[in-house]
Amino acid sequence: MVESKTQLACPASLDIERVRRDFPILRTRVGNAPLVYLDNAATTQKPQVVIEALERFYAEQNANIHRGIHYLSERASDAYENARRRIADFINAPREREVIFVRGATEGINLVAQSFGRKFVHQGDEILISTLEHHANIVPWQMMAEERGAGIRVIPMDDRGVLDFEAFENLLSERTRIIGLTYISNALGTVNPVVDMIAAAHARDIPVLIDGAQAASHVAVDVEELDCDFFVFSGHKVFGPTGIGILYGKEKWLNEMPPYQGGGDMIRSVSFTKTLYREIPEKFEAGTPHIGGVIALAEAIDYFDGLGRGAVEAYEACLVSYALNRLGEIDGLRVVGTAPQRASVVSFWINDVHPHDIGTFLDNDGIAIRAGHHCAQPLMNRLGLPGTARASFSIYNTREEVDQLELSLRKIIRFFNR
Ligand code: ALA
Repeated sequence: MVESKTQLACPASLDIERVRRDFPILRTRVGNAPLVYLDNAATTQKPQVVIEALERFYAEQNANIHRGIHYLSERASDAYENARRRIADFINAPREREVIFVRGATEGINLVAQSFGRKFVHQGDEILISTLEHHANIVPWQMMAEERGAGIRVIPMDDRGVLDFEAFENLLSERTRIIGLTYISNALGTVNPVVDMIAAAHARDIPVLIDGAQAASHVAVDVEELDCDFFVFSGHKVFGPTGIGILYGKEKWLNEMPPYQGGGDMIRSVSFTKTLYREIPEKFEAGTPHIGGVIALAEAIDYFDGLGRGAVEAYEACLVSYALNRLGEIDGLRVVGTAPQRASVVSFWINDVHPHDIGTFLDNDGIAIRAGHHCAQPLMNRLGLPGTARASFSIYNTREEVDQLELSLRKIIRFFNR
């Protein structure tokens, strides 16, 4: 059923007025227009509590962790380890030590590709990824495969952006060493059937890494229920700071994998002839981490969890369905990616208008979107497009903002059809 444009509110599962007040940047004006921020798949905005947590850390707690025996260092170390507990709880990781702090999803995937690859991937092995992957879940595997003499195989998809499950099962073989799979496509919004795919892989003893960069702020993540072997996400896409992210890994793998980087804090003892490493998580956390970022990320997760995951999912599902309806009614605009299971992202193409021009025109009206290949060039090649324009939604977006997007897009089409 096409919803009426006059139904302006999505279910009152979220108090949107209050949520919007929590994000100071949403008061920005772009020229004469209020900011309409629809680039949440690139990064989410930060609530005041996260901004304050960062400030509080540097004003009241700043010290290095795990090294000092002084008051500030103990406070910083406690806050850092409490954050690890909080984040383990957020993704339902069975053990806190299975949560490794990294710079972001990209670094998490590079860590697994390099470290797992060195130990478990050999000449003639295969790494399986999908057509829907972001470059971050392609290039690290290619780099490792080249070093190890392994090959990359790719799960195909149909024109809607849905992966071919049968082809996926047929690609699984005794040569498949690991699978890298996105939970939600950053370019099309497709939600992959990761539970079934992980089960099919595990039936053949193949471990699976889930790229959760687009999932963590849109669906409830439970790594125990997913039974994934690795899960990565970036803090900045879950209302936290940039430069901090999470790698979850099952202990049985992390214990077997060699360190990714060497340095301080990851060692038990060092001599010029032999170095002994610490256990996880420290084994994978060489050097001074982004301590303030870790603490502020825990604050972001507290904030987000406080809204209620069910409430967020219901609200965003309504918003995306409204956007699909509104944009679907515009002549000359084609929604790209029509998977039945989808979340948070609406990609589109307007005949004879380059996506970058759409982005520039929308910016003139204060509307921020992303345009281009979305770091998914192989996916764009499969679609036969140079790129798309992409609106991506979050907890603070409204139907009125979708209406503004629709108005501006109609204006662009009129302009180019003159
Ligand atoms: N991965 C981010 C995006 O899709 C940067 O925009």
